[in-house]
Amino acid sequence: MKQQYVFTTTLSFLILFVLHCSTTLAQGPAAAPVAPTPAPPSPTNVTKILKKVGQFTLFIRLLKTTQVANQLLGQLNNSNNGITIFAPTDNAFSSLKSVTLNSLNDEQKVELVQFHIVPTYLSSSQFQTISNPLRTQAGDSDDGKFPLNITTSGNSVNITSGLTNTSVSGTVYTDGQLAVYQIDQVLQPMQIFAPRPPAPAPAPAKSNKKKAAVVSESPDETPAADNSKAATTMQNVALFGVATVVAALFL
Ligand SMILES: *[C@@H]1O[C@H](CO)[C@@H](O)[C@H](O)[C@H]1NC(C)=O
Ligand SMILES: *[C@@H]1O[C@H](CO)[C@@H](O)[C@H](O)[C@H]1NC(C)=O
Ligand SMILES: *[C@@H]1O[C@H](CO)[C@@H](O)[C@H](O)[C@H]1NC(C)=O
Ligand SMILES: *[C@@H]1O[C@H](CO)[C@@H](O)[C@H](O)[C@H]1NC(C)=O
Ligand SMILES: *[C@@H]1O[C@H](CO)[C@@H](O)[C@H](O)[C@H]1NC(C)=O
Repeated sequence: MKQQYVFTTTLSFLILFVLHCSTTLAQGPAAAPVAPTPAPPSPTNVTKILKKVGQFTLFIRLLKTTQVANQLLGQLNNSNNGITIFAPTDNAFSSLKSVTLNSLNDEQKVELVQFHIVPTYLSSSQFQTISNPLRTQAGDSDDGKFPLNITTSGNSVNITSGLTNTSVSGTVYTDGQLAVYQIDQVLQPMQIFAPRPPAPAPAPAKSNKKKAAVVSESPDETPAADNSKAATTMQNVALFGVATVVAALFL
């Protein structure tokens, strides 16, 4: 009787334990959202933002073919300063003479795209207090080689490259890190499109002289080396001669 009681109790505990386990298991997945592992934030995809609007297909194509789109992904992932993009519409590109784009080499295409990107986040209110000239992503350093000027009057924000005068015609996107503004003309940098002054004639005479001097140095040395080599050979011949004579004497 007592044994049966113990058995029943043990069985009850077992059942309770199994029940407890299965409840815990069942609760497992449900409990997960309470402490979620945060997914790494992915950098803002500029191409995606522009694609949504639907009138930037040519600018998107340029961003992709020049690899500037990838550059932007990296910058938006790392930069604390943010990025501002002045995106020209498809109409802006079609009003640009087709020869203009086709005449550019790959490097100039990259520069043209980067000329529309400022390596800082600019909210529309910041345009009021901007100090000109504004550095763009184009050019290899912070020497301000490809500058833009921005001026405001009332609500209008005017942008000039020196060759192109246009104004911001809409805000496409802002999130505190990335700002994308629509413009209706392609900004043409002076550094690419302005008629250049003829390059100063190189001074080849000086460098040729230098080269000649360098060339004349080795012939001076070579004969000396040859002479000493010749002397050594003569010595060897003489020694060989002596050895032959000695050998002949002993044979
Ligand atoms: C960005 O968005 C474009 C267009 O939706 C897509 O083709 C591209 O793969 C995306 N790039 C990344 C790195 O997610
Ligand atoms: C973003 O940057 C972090 C570290 O700086 C890196 O681990 C991650 O791979 C980057 N993500 C992309 C999509 O570049
Ligand atoms: C901005 O451009 C408009 C024409 O697009 C012009 O009328 C206006 O004077 C310009 N404003 C400034 C501050 O340059
Ligand atoms: C841009 O602004 C700077 C400083 O005010 C000025 O020196 C320069 O001439 C301006 N350039 C253009 C193209 O307006
Ligand atoms: C741009 O504006 C400046 C001054 O506002 C003017 O001198 C210049 O001629 C304009 N250029 C074009 C291409 O409209």
